[in-house]
Amino acid sequence: MSYYDVKDTKLAEAGKNRIEWAAQTMPVLRKIKERFEKEKPLAGKTLAACLHVTSETATLMQTLKAGGAQVCLCASNPLSTQDDVAASLAIHDKISVFAIKGEDDKTYYRHIHASLETSPQITMDDGADLVSTIHSQKPNLADNVIGGTEETTTGVIRLAQMAREGVLKYPIIAVNDADTKHFFDNRYGTGQSTMDGIIRATNRLLAGTVFVIAGYGWCGKGLAMRAQGEGANVIVTEIDPLRALEASMDGFRVMKMEEAAPVGDFFCTVTGNKNVIAKKHFEKMKSGAIVCNSGHFNVELDIPALESMAKTKRTLRPFVEEYVLSDGRRINLLAQGRLVNLAAAEGHPSSVMDMSFANQALCAEFLAKQTKRLEKKVHPVPRDIDQQIAALKLEAMGIRIDTLTAEQQKYLTSWQEGT
Ligand code: NAD
Ligand code: ADE
Repeated sequence: MSYYDVKDTKLAEAGKNRIEWAAQTMPVLRKIKERFEKEKPLAGKTLAACLHVTSETATLMQTLKAGGAQVCLCASNPLSTQDDVAASLAIHDKISVFAIKGEDDKTYYRHIHASLETSPQITMDDGADLVSTIHSQKPNLADNVIGGTEETTTGVIRLAQMAREGVLKYPIIAVNDADTKHFFDNRYGTGQSTMDGIIRATNRLLAGTVFVIAGYGWCGKGLAMRAQGEGANVIVTEIDPLRALEASMDGFRVMKMEEAAPVGDFFCTVTGNKNVIAKKHFEKMKSGAIVCNSGHFNVELDIPALESMAKTKRTLRPFVEEYVLSDGRRINLLAQGRLVNLAAAEGHPSSVMDMSFANQALCAEFLAKQTKRLEKKVHPVPRDIDQQIAALKLEAMGIRIDTLTAEQQKYLTSWQEGT
């Protein structure tokens, strides 16, 4: 078998330019790469990564390779691959890559299996597909794995559940839960790139429209902020009272999806849950409503229900499918309900992925350096890694901050001084 399966190797030149462009605004990862080149902390380690195959991911792969790892990459979503980037990684960087934008489910899983052929010692996931394939179909591979990392909220939730049930066969570092990851990537990254995906797909004006967001977690907060910035009237739906309260006090209208359905122009789910927009909601939507998802899996919208309600379906523009219902109403679905920011746009900008992927690189190094086996559970990113990344990012941004004086240090560790 070839060491790669990409759409077209002739795209490699364009991909190389795109990767160089991304790397320009990834200073933290660049610093790590320079150190990795000298120290080779991953020498002799095999690493399988199942991530969105983008220019930012390519920069991470180059960093891991510079650290001495033998790297194999496959896609973590059938629609998020940048084919030119995949070609460049294979041709210019000689990195094993199995990913084609638009691949069907069978090819998607064939690519996951291909990336596991190397019997990895470290796995790197965005949504836990490598871990779940190892556990369900190739359990013997787990004996060789030192540990894995997980990039996203949905993956961490699944892996934590596996640990609770006592079935997790190797330790995982929850990269998503590092402050330098979800404070920025989930919030500002998803906020901007989701708007970008919706705008690129539709070219519609947002000002004056009603924009409904399901889920006011880290991604939802970022998206609400950006939709409001475009002049949309934002409605938030939630199931968590605390988050609903937060959305309300941040100035957004909060209501049930059933109430939002008849008034929304745009709908976007970012919950990590399933059937958040269901048949009963599609039944109430205005004709022309635009519906999409930016949560990890394509189950947040009940697409089978929409299919069953539709009389006809056609592709109106790339990433826009128009469903005409039996009463004549038209519902527009973006990017087949898959992550709209990665399918219809290019995912998060590189300057934010810089921190997410710095966490990935340093956690891979952390795993490679373990002399004893870590407990088979989900571990947080070590605090010093998080702090180091924040400090490096600030430095790269030319921002200096104050340090505690000796007097302040003493004050903060005492209790006697008062009014
Ligand atoms: P989070 O846990 O911070 O937020 C999710 C929110 O959804 C929670 O507040 C929860 O109460 C709410 N929710 C759950 N079920 C709901 C329902 N039925 N109706 C309304 N609200 C509901 O998670 P997050 O970090 O914001 O991530 C959300 C999803 O986005 C996950 O699937 C995550 O993996 C994914 N994600 C996507 C990208 C991207 O590039 N598009 C980036 C990061 C994370
Ligand atoms: N997740 C969200 N945006 C991404 C990007 N640009 N590259 C890789 N993974 C991502």
